[in-house]
Amino acid sequence: MTPTYGLEGRAAVVTGGTRGIGLAVARALAGAGARVCVSARDARDVARTAAELDGAGLAGDVADPRHLSELTELAVRTFGRIDLVVNNAATNRPYGPLMEADPRAWSRAFAVNVEAPLRLVQCAWRAWMGEHGGSVVNVCTEGAEHVGPNVGAYGTSKAALLHLTRQLAGELAPRVRVNSVSPGLVRTEMARFVWGPAEPALAAALPLGRIGEPEDVARAVLWLASDAASWVTGADLVVDGGTRVRSARTGNLGTAAATP
Ligand SMILES: NC(=O)c1ccc[n+]([C@@H]2O[C@H](COP(=O)([O-])OP(=O)(O)OC[C@H]3O[C@@H](n4cnc5c(N)ncnc54)[C@H](OP(=O)(O)O)[C@@H]3O)[C@@H](O)[C@H]2O)c1
Repeated sequence: MTPTYGLEGRAAVVTGGTRGIGLAVARALAGAGARVCVSARDARDVARTAAELDGAGLAGDVADPRHLSELTELAVRTFGRIDLVVNNAATNRPYGPLMEADPRAWSRAFAVNVEAPLRLVQCAWRAWMGEHGGSVVNVCTEGAEHVGPNVGAYGTSKAALLHLTRQLAGELAPRVRVNSVSPGLVRTEMARFVWGPAEPALAAALPLGRIGEPEDVARAVLWLASDAASWVTGADLVVDGGTRVRSARTGNLGTAAATP
């Protein structure tokens, strides 16, 4: 049974809510009693998801500030409130060494991954949350803490989103809580190029023995968004199947336990 965490009557906006982690989050919030408004670029996916959730939706690009203000207006017009914002839409482009990065693609990574979350929170704050309170969850990545080949723009922008989360948490308290969830490798389209060719080996290398499912992340978002986390702000909840602790694995629990 899905715990409700008291989200009945609340209204949520989920960017990138038509696929992968965002769709799982939108479903979890709706399942917990919230009214949900989703955004994504593909209009058919938006219409299908809004209908499935008996909610609302607006097609558009989060990099377009007008889309974000229209999204906020739609949510407030439809639900009369906007209690929860989940900044989930992101791009992992440009892919490759930073010395070869096209400056326009680099700027777009920041527009989608960093600017859009800030702008949407500003819109929601002005429209409802500043007066009535609320909760924001930004979807970052476990990878934001380290460097890696070819993902410099993505990693740098997500590290900025992590910082933005903490900064906003301080600025908007006590009225609005702002937290992030940092997923490890999750079975979605965005990450298919990683898990598709090598899932068994990747799963075996993880302490919890499998890659993530979108619902693993959605449950963490749901908890942070809810009153169950009412004394939590500025936190980053890592949901990674043990990725960050894998170097401590011995692969032989019996021997490790017997060794003083
Ligand atoms: N999957 C992983 O392993 C993983 C790991 C760490 C962090 N994450 C993070 O998790 C979040 C969700 O990723 P995912 O793996 O679920 O991706 P996904 O399956 O590719 O879904 C992305 C969603 O965002 C929408 N979207 C993408 N760009 C957009 C834009 N510019 N404007 C509006 N909507 C946009 C997509 O719809 P349209 O294409 O129709 O716009 C789709 O609904 C991202 O923040 C990602 O960085 C994922």
